[in-house]
Amino acid sequence: MKLILLGPPGAGKGTQAVYITEAYQIPSISTGEMLRAAVAAKTPLGKEAKTLMEKGDLVPDDLILRMLSERLLESDCKNGYILDGVPRTLVQAEGMDKLNIEVDKVLNFDIPLDEVVARLSGRRVCPTCQATYHVLFQPLKEEGICDKCGSKLTTRKDDEPASIENRMEVYLAQTQPLITYYKEKGKLFDINALGSKDEVEARIQEILGEPV
Ligand code: AP5
Repeated sequence: MKLILLGPPGAGKGTQAVYITEAYQIPSISTGEMLRAAVAAKTPLGKEAKTLMEKGDLVPDDLILRMLSERLLESDCKNGYILDGVPRTLVQAEGMDKLNIEVDKVLNFDIPLDEVVARLSGRRVCPTCQATYHVLFQPLKEEGICDKCGSKLTTRKDDEPASIENRMEVYLAQTQPLITYYKEKGKLFDINALGSKDEVEARIQEILGEPV
């Protein structure tokens, strides 16, 4: 099963990628997470990406395509994968086609933009195990502490109001056109991303079939 998760920032793609990985036993490849790891490790790629990411701008297409194609060569991807947050532009989608990166289904997370702003504003992340929480929608056992590994939670720099606003504009201008691109290929499946995490999981299961 080779999937793309498409949708605005904060739509719940990363949250549902965790579910799909567990339920269908395929790895999730998040370009955002790979880039944040490169920023933390201060690699040349990380240094180039840092300022762009903090502002909510996209990282150049050629860097993304190179990073993605290298990652897909790893053995855990041979039975399928979830691409979370990539492609993000038409150039990336066309580049993936040229590289013969296969895609079976594109799950388009459909959600009003005011709802995603609320989700992003309350998001907390674990810098150690990457778990994601929300102060209202996914509360913690102990405030500010990761339930899974006990680390102190942080707020992503790009979840500050100015950056959220820019990310929405970037999404509308550069990523939303991909909906038509994949609809024309007959691969697009709309997911109503409103409602609880469990409700969204159930809608995804209707499209992907029984978990393995
Ligand atoms: P990336 O990390 O991909 O960020 P994003 O697409 O903006 O997506 P998010 O991680 O913000 O949201 P999400 O949909 O995963 O939501 P989540 O599940 O966390 O990219 C970051 C940056 O990297 C980009 O801005 C760009 O600079 C760069 N980049 C990455 N890929 C790139 C590419 N291909 N090309 C160029 N540049 C690239 O949920 C959000 C919150 O809501 C959480 O708090 C969660 O707990 C909560 N929540 C989730 N589901 C529900 C629910 N059903 N009900 C209530 N709350 C919920």
